[in-house]
Amino acid sequence: MSLPDWAPDGVDTTVPNAARVYDYALGGYHNFAVDREFTEQAMKAWPGIGRVAYANRAYLGRAVEWLVDAGVRQFLDIGSGIPTLGNVHEVAQALAPEARVMYVDIDEVAVAHSQAILAGNTRAAAVRGDLRRPQQILADPRVQELLDFGQPVAVLLVAVLHFVADEDDPAGIVRELSEALVGGSYVAVSHFTRTAGLDQEQDQVTKLYDQTPTSVRARTPQQVAAILGDLELIGPGVVPATAWHPDPEEEREPEQAAVLAAMGYKPIRS
Ligand SMILES: C[S@@+](CC[C@H](N)C(=O)[O-])C[C@H]1O[C@@H](n2cnc3c(N)ncnc32)[C@H](O)[C@@H]1O
Repeated sequence: MSLPDWAPDGVDTTVPNAARVYDYALGGYHNFAVDREFTEQAMKAWPGIGRVAYANRAYLGRAVEWLVDAGVRQFLDIGSGIPTLGNVHEVAQALAPEARVMYVDIDEVAVAHSQAILAGNTRAAAVRGDLRRPQQILADPRVQELLDFGQPVAVLLVAVLHFVADEDDPAGIVRELSEALVGGSYVAVSHFTRTAGLDQEQDQVTKLYDQTPTSVRARTPQQVAAILGDLELIGPGVVPATAWHPDPEEEREPEQAAVLAAMGYKPIRS
């Protein structure tokens, strides 16, 4: 099979992949037949899952706007996905043209496509990296070159921590990332959670994800708060993403509560 021109050489088109499944669910076209089949199966098992993806993406946009408003001008977006509508650099740089954004993803298609659309943008870049290896991400010379860790940075962990197993110590990962940040920095999180009345649907989708390289797990609001560790939980706390500084215009469905959101803050110590 010949690869489309946006696909990097050597990409495995036989296994569904979270980045490309999410891209397809959001109406994107950087995905393969195996990803589309997977998404159709997931949507059959849980018809509302597409709305959950949209609610998550909408939260990402609101969180970035809120962070720019709070004065943040640097973003480290890990598990950034395949560029689609409302990318972090577009949202941030529309409000603050000087904002800098480093995208990191484990998926080579996400990174290749991000690099393609960022060509010529000197304040945004993309690298391949694994959230489970935070020190490697922080030490990457391209990350160090773009971001000034002497100034506040917002780390975005949006719809990615649910791909990190307990054995890989998500709280330890967030702690290592936060230790690299100065006071006045933030960690924004969204995370899959169980919702009442959808047990079967969510079980089936979770099982489907076992076919991908990144299995998925739900966590409770308490577990998400624990992952944020010593960071101050600001704003409404750990809440359904649609309830995090809600957009009055957004249509909300009860099952969108399957994605939680929270904002951790590293206080400035005097
Ligand atoms: C559901 S998408 C979320 C994309 C974007 N953050 C958003 O919320 O719109 C999850 C992304 O996390 C990436 N991912 C999964 N595990 C990862 C890991 N260990 N390190 C970095 N990225 C990872 C996937 O490749 C995928 O692009």
